[in-house]
Amino acid sequence: MNLLDGKKCAESLVAEIARKVAGYTESGLRTPHMTIILVGEHAPSESYVKSKIATSGLAGFESTLLRFPETIRESELLAKIKEVNEDPTTDGLIVQLPLPKHINQQHVINAIAPEKDIDGFHPANFGRMTLGQKAFRPATAYGICKLLQFYGVPVKAKHCVVIGRSNIVGKPISIMLSNDFDIGNATVTLTHIETPRELLLDETRRADIVIVAVGIPGFVTADMVKDGVVLIDVGINRLESGKIVGDVDFENVAQKCSWITPVPGGVGRMTVAALMINTLMAYQNNFNLA
Ligand code: GUN
Repeated sequence: MNLLDGKKCAESLVAEIARKVAGYTESGLRTPHMTIILVGEHAPSESYVKSKIATSGLAGFESTLLRFPETIRESELLAKIKEVNEDPTTDGLIVQLPLPKHINQQHVINAIAPEKDIDGFHPANFGRMTLGQKAFRPATAYGICKLLQFYGVPVKAKHCVVIGRSNIVGKPISIMLSNDFDIGNATVTLTHIETPRELLLDETRRADIVIVAVGIPGFVTADMVKDGVVLIDVGINRLESGKIVGDVDFENVAQKCSWITPVPGGVGRMTVAALMINTLMAYQNNFNLA
């Protein structure tokens, strides 16, 4: 069993970004700038945002955190987004999800200027990505691809089973790995909550790569996978004890894997690194840099 070490890979990618940024700023350009909007006090969001801001500093970016109370009206939030869209000193904008129930998430995502949408959630970016065109790719899915690439894990012609069809992970990773991308050309099965258990087991037991993003600790057990499987665990679940675990029964499943991501230190770190890649791309687009 080999670990797909997201921390190591992310550090290497961020260091490469920092080198590029140093070159740009030494030539007289302004620093790349990422803005994050955080609504309310959702504890996991606080922790993700902290990590995004810390990593953006390591990448050599400037960052701004705009905090709003849980009670903000949708119209006020949309007005704020418009302000950031129109601010030429911000390259990339993230609205941290989830949002309070009274705010329509789709209205918010659609309000972000596609050229600043470093999360890759806007329909224009999601559509371009799906069609294989240049786009900001959803960060978690993109981070998974970068991690597989970093460790030279073969994807082309492999059978990949994705568990979970969320717009932020399952859906985009299933599209990206089946597309004719550098890290792609796999045969992908997308399973979800309505997939009958027997069908799910048929699929996972013959999969070369399993990607799970369901938010249920221990969902993937050793009997569900074959020997030599590559396992990508997207889950980040906090147990009552305070321990952070993924969606995989790591202790028992890891023994069967050729490669597996740890939690923490796996995909979570890669999501943040991929956001930095997207922010750099937004900046490069602004300044017509290659
Ligand atoms: N909440 C959980 N994951 C994400 C993400 O990748 N981006 C944003 N904006 N919110 C999230």
